[in-house]
Amino acid sequence: MPHPWLAKRTSLFDSSGIRKVFDLAAKMSDPINLSIGQPDFPVPDPIKEAAIEAIRTDNNGYSLTQGIPPLREALQARIDAEYGQEDRRVLVTSGTSGALVLAMLSLVDPGDEVICFDPYFVMYPALVGMAGGKCVLIDTYPDFRIDVEKVAAAITPRTKLILLNSPANPTGVVATADEVRSLAGLAAEHNIALLSDEIYRDFCYDTQLASPATWNDQTLVVDGFSKSYGVTGWRLGWVHGPAAIIDKLTMLQQYTFVCAPHPLQHAGLVALETDISQHVADYATRRDLMVNGLRDAGYEVASTSGAFYVFPKVPEGAGTATEFVTRAIENQLLIIPGSIFSQRDTHFRISYAASPVTIERGLEVLRHLSPVS
Ligand SMILES: Cc1ncc(COP(=O)(O)O)c(C=O)c1O
Repeated sequence: MPHPWLAKRTSLFDSSGIRKVFDLAAKMSDPINLSIGQPDFPVPDPIKEAAIEAIRTDNNGYSLTQGIPPLREALQARIDAEYGQEDRRVLVTSGTSGALVLAMLSLVDPGDEVICFDPYFVMYPALVGMAGGKCVLIDTYPDFRIDVEKVAAAITPRTKLILLNSPANPTGVVATADEVRSLAGLAAEHNIALLSDEIYRDFCYDTQLASPATWNDQTLVVDGFSKSYGVTGWRLGWVHGPAAIIDKLTMLQQYTFVCAPHPLQHAGLVALETDISQHVADYATRRDLMVNGLRDAGYEVASTSGAFYVFPKVPEGAGTATEFVTRAIENQLLIIPGSIFSQRDTHFRISYAASPVTIERGLEVLRHLSPVS
């Protein structure tokens, strides 16, 4: 029974499935952890030094709500160089999650429908629900590609927003330029808001990222430092879009998060100058190691070219994803069942943001659990 003081909306945040998995994991002595949604490389030293220096030189109070001017200017310069759109403005936020909260509360009215692709990032349905909206899911199995005709068919007079995430969590799929261009055009044609979550934009291995904002200048884009620089605990991100929307998001930030963590904004400025291409190249190699290893073991894996996740299908006869993951955990391997990210419980998410030795240990368990073995 929930506590009687709790609002009805709290029933949207049920994490009992994932909690069960992590309760099991907590009892493990030497887990093979391929469940992690953050890079395994250390934060580059100059970024750490900049954070320490900012604290030491007393940049510990509130910053401007919009973000410290040098960081905002650096981000704005990048955005202008990429999109060249006169009306596009940026706001520094408390992580990409902070940007998502501000965007959802600013765009979605009670009863509005929000189109999300299934599988989706775990936060989306909860955030849509928090704003009083309703998630309309577009099934993308088995290849996790965007079918714009399916999106068009799902549009109703109540459709307010389309949420795109590419490269995607949990599938690692990067939408093609054609898919993104058509989606951007569809949103413009129906005057539906479009939000593009580009937090994994630096982790594209085979193609360049296609952003819908290139074709639809009203698109709101959320992005952040968490994944690119291994600073998930710093809570630093940004959002850019039409000035009138960014103004409202800024006001809402004033009444909620107040500002992004101030000293870390100074470190963010240094991060933007830091080359992470070697890490990205290493992850591309690990992607190959993981995908080839899974396919050799008989797993069905959709092609993936971004982020650091793979979303294979549970083999025929191996039960639901939750059952399969429970068996994996009994064998020391920590992975996440698809039901956390989807209406279906048929796939599992595996992260290759781990050392090649850990990936190889994980594959060993998966070979053991595969009917082909
Ligand atoms: C698709 C996606 N969006 C947003 C986030 C949140 O990122 P942040 O740490 O910047 O809040 C994550 C984190 O896992 C993610 O996978």
